[in-house]
Amino acid sequence: MHVLRRVRLAIQTILQVTLVTAAFQQPFLHSESVGYRNGWDQYDEGLFTPLGSLDLLSENQFTVLHHPVFPSHGVRIKKSSFCDDTVQAYTGYIDIQARHIFFYFFESRNDPDTDDVIFWTNGGPGCSSSMGLFMELGPCRISANGTTTTIHPESWNSNSNIFFVDQPIGVGFSYADYGETVGTTEEAAKDMAAFVFIFFEHFSKFKGRAFHMAGESYGGRYIPVFAAEVYDQNTKLAEAGLTPINLTSVMIGNGITDFYHQVSSVFDMQCTSASVPPVVDIATCVQMKQVIPRCQQWLKKSCLDTFDRINCRAAMDFCEGHLEGPFWSTGKNPYDISRDCDGDISETLCYPVTRSIGSYLDRPEVRALLGVDPSLTANFSSCSGEVGRAFSDNLDGDQSTQHYVAALLERGVRVLIYVGTYDWICNWVGNERWTLAMEWSGQSEFSQQELKPWGVNEEDSRIGLTRSAKGLTFATVEGAGHMVPYDKPKESLELVQRWLSGRGF
Ligand SMILES: *[C@@H]1O[C@H](CO)[C@@H](O)[C@H](O)[C@H]1NC(C)=O
Ligand SMILES: *[C@@H]1O[C@H](CO)[C@@H](O)[C@H](O)[C@H]1NC(C)=O
Ligand SMILES: *[C@@H]1O[C@H](CO)[C@@H](O)[C@H](O)[C@H]1NC(C)=O
Repeated sequence: MHVLRRVRLAIQTILQVTLVTAAFQQPFLHSESVGYRNGWDQYDEGLFTPLGSLDLLSENQFTVLHHPVFPSHGVRIKKSSFCDDTVQAYTGYIDIQARHIFFYFFESRNDPDTDDVIFWTNGGPGCSSSMGLFMELGPCRISANGTTTTIHPESWNSNSNIFFVDQPIGVGFSYADYGETVGTTEEAAKDMAAFVFIFFEHFSKFKGRAFHMAGESYGGRYIPVFAAEVYDQNTKLAEAGLTPINLTSVMIGNGITDFYHQVSSVFDMQCTSASVPPVVDIATCVQMKQVIPRCQQWLKKSCLDTFDRINCRAAMDFCEGHLEGPFWSTGKNPYDISRDCDGDISETLCYPVTRSIGSYLDRPEVRALLGVDPSLTANFSSCSGEVGRAFSDNLDGDQSTQHYVAALLERGVRVLIYVGTYDWICNWVGNERWTLAMEWSGQSEFSQQELKPWGVNEEDSRIGLTRSAKGLTFATVEGAGHMVPYDKPKESLELVQRWLSGRGF
């Protein structure tokens, strides 16, 4: 009884929407010692038998799972034969009180019982992870007419179990009973930490498995904050005698992690040969160059040194207007500066395949197959404007997320920053700059490394450039745009396999 009460109290604290920051950090490895082992044995003593085997789930209906210590949280999950017939696939919702988070889960094509687990989110803010699933790293792609799927051989589930999560609430098939949405990354992080905990708690075969949190684009802000929340949650899990999440690494593709370095780097992309020859005329480039010092001083004063909402917003408007404005009139694809935008960016994001994904996900039989909640009747939208605006109103993107990255590195969580070199919007120049400028105990060792080529064999099949030290790796993928696995599937699989195996670059 005592244990149960302790666990319940701890869970309530962990899952409460108003989570307080842990007063002290317990390095994860310590929690592996006696305390949590004993605690787990006690906790498991007939109190709850997790479903454990995913094979028990039905294809035709949701299995609803509850956990005795947190009755207001649950999992609705079903087997969904689609996308990849060679593995088990599951879809469903993690229900956190009135909030319902939709996910796709694919087992590994290699060995689901031992392979690592990856959590994937797309960015936006407000875009659905079905984009990553169906056009980038997932096990299948959608036919142009949006009716069928074809197997994708270079899927990241080649060697890992992988989740695709529609988050935050209000994105993709995730919803809330009272229509509330989430407007900051910190708030979204609480739902994600609860999501991750609830999943592992129910599917015990994945417990303790090496766990990687990955994302792209705005994921450069989400993922460090989410991983930090999972890390801090672990301290409480260990105290409550529960199994912590084995948070091993963070992977960020073409991310926006440090807006300060990113915003001025668009100059290098447009006006130098950093990736492709300049795309903007000299007169404009000179004006842009002259604006950079003022932009940087203003951002530093109003966003970095002290955060002043009104001035920070004004500084961002000034910088973006002068530095990004000229690019938009070129008609180039902001996600791939080597091409023109294909279609209307607000409709297709320059990639007409997004339309096919939408048609596929709007098919009634697909919705039934996936178990999309019947209350969601609107057409699928790849990105939620409402969520995007809420984040923007809160200046969520104008935060120094690199501090989270540094904090994770200090605690032994490895970090991979990979960047397709043709992306303009979250380009490699800005990503290289912030990784070098980030303050952490490995900074001097990391920044003293020269960039060196990496690839399958030697120089002639080089994939890009890389530098690593003390758990941090920066790697480029040459000739890829913002969505690296879309442009370079083979290279992206090589990247993730090297990273998961710890082989290095
Ligand atoms: C859609 O495309 C697929 C694959 O190209 C094809 O097999 C199928 O017949 C098409 N369906 C329709 C309705 O055109
Ligand atoms: C976490 O995963 C790593 C890598 O697979 C493994 O070596 C380690 O033993 C795991 N830790 C725990 C507590 O299970
Ligand atoms: C939903 O999509 C269908 C098919 O593309 C279209 O005909 C319909 O107008 C859309 N509905 C709304 C509300 O946009």
